[in-house]
Amino acid sequence: MKTHIKKKTRISNKDNLALLYSNKYDLSEFNLSFQENNYISKKLKENKKIVVINQYSRFLFIVNIEQFKEKNIHLEKCRILGDQLVSKIKDLKSIVLVNNLEEKEDAISFAEGMALANYSFNKHKTMQENPSLNTIYFFCKKTSQKDINELQNIIDAVYLTRNLINEPFSHLTAQDLAKEAVNSAKKFGIKSTVFNKKEIEKMKMGGLLAVNRGSLDEPTFTLLEWSPKNSKNKKPIVLVGKGIVFDTGGLSLKPTTNSMDIMKVDMGGAGTVIGVMQAVASNNLPISVKGLIPATDNRPSGNAYAPGDVVKMHSGITVEVLNTDAEGRMILADALSYAKKFNPSLVIDLATLTGSAASTIGHFGIVSMHNMAEKEHCNLKKYGEYTHERLAELPFWSDYDDLIKSDIADIKNIGGPQAGAITAGKFLCRFTDYPWIHLDIAGASYTPKKYGYRGKGATGMGVRLLYHFLKSLT
Ligand code: BES
Ligand code: ZN
Ligand code: ZN
Repeated sequence: MKTHIKKKTRISNKDNLALLYSNKYDLSEFNLSFQENNYISKKLKENKKIVVINQYSRFLFIVNIEQFKEKNIHLEKCRILGDQLVSKIKDLKSIVLVNNLEEKEDAISFAEGMALANYSFNKHKTMQENPSLNTIYFFCKKTSQKDINELQNIIDAVYLTRNLINEPFSHLTAQDLAKEAVNSAKKFGIKSTVFNKKEIEKMKMGGLLAVNRGSLDEPTFTLLEWSPKNSKNKKPIVLVGKGIVFDTGGLSLKPTTNSMDIMKVDMGGAGTVIGVMQAVASNNLPISVKGLIPATDNRPSGNAYAPGDVVKMHSGITVEVLNTDAEGRMILADALSYAKKFNPSLVIDLATLTGSAASTIGHFGIVSMHNMAEKEHCNLKKYGEYTHERLAELPFWSDYDDLIKSDIADIKNIGGPQAGAITAGKFLCRFTDYPWIHLDIAGASYTPKKYGYRGKGATGMGVRLLYHFLKSLT
């Protein structure tokens, strides 16, 4: 499905309108009856944020956008109102936003909230659901076609990420995921390369191969490259996404109740990287970015990797596997050491890595850690507040390093009962030698209950954050 966002230069008396106002409102141009005017002022006095008028030929929604001093809070309130409007408009096909506000960003954020809320994943339903809103029109002088195109591209990218994450393992193997990445890349002029099992073996990606040993399907390693001629950065930024298309835990099998139910989301990092690459390329950002996606499922079988195994990784480091359910770090580590060949200015990995991160902050934000990237992390945090895809930074003290020491190999893949999200980060850090930020999106990627405009299921969190962060560097 797609929510179209377009500009309109004229409105007719059949158009459903959402009139965005802030405190003082003037509806004289809409020829409202005395009763309608009275009704609106009464409701606004009662502090109703959205007043609905049914004029039979069309609906009017009077939206009262309160002004908040803090800009980021204000923009988030606009998105939340956008979601509330979507839940009121029921079966309308289109709506025109009429903006009488000073700031054009308010209307953009409002439309963003609407479009994000309007998402649904019903490709596997054979019975048609009620059709949802098809088009959001802007009737706003201050909003340019460029602003609208940018928003449309961002929304499309978030939808793509959500679709990929919502897609079950039965319909998305590692090879399917690679195909999806290539599809998006082809559409938007991104260079793509998919390495197959043989090539992965040649590259000695021991971590990815170990996790894949129990699988019936071959692993993939996908490289996406966006480097336009007018790139502002010489050294690229590399994004790495965990692509576990289903995580059973492997031989260290997860209990089937609850903990395995949503494990199709374990390619959330990969889905987010694909979405970010699409957002960057479709908006033609002059910045050189690469996306790396190691992918496989993780399951038990006669040939599966086992607790106690020692694995030689792509970097040459040896890992003692003490829990096959800590598989994300095994495949990410190979991608992180592979990233060194690009001499990156910054590497950011995204991964549904630990239950510990999810239980610490829930689905309300992203757990972050970093090494040698103080300035970049601070900047990313700023865009976290701007997009409301916020970062919660965990300590990354050297004291934690000892927790992943192994008796028989260089390191082990679990750190014990304490600080699970941090020891996972510490494990990854051993495979980096560049400024690096780790984003654990285990909680953020998916919500079991509706979470405002993020909906229910895959949220797509991380796409808007990274898009705006990357844009700020151009
Ligand atoms: N995919 C899981 C983490 C996860 C949990 C993602 C909840 C989304 C929601 C990861 O591979 C995992 O199993 N991690 C283990 C690590 C442990 C065995 C050290 C965990 O967090 O329990
Ligand atoms: Zn796992
Ligand atoms: Zn996992």
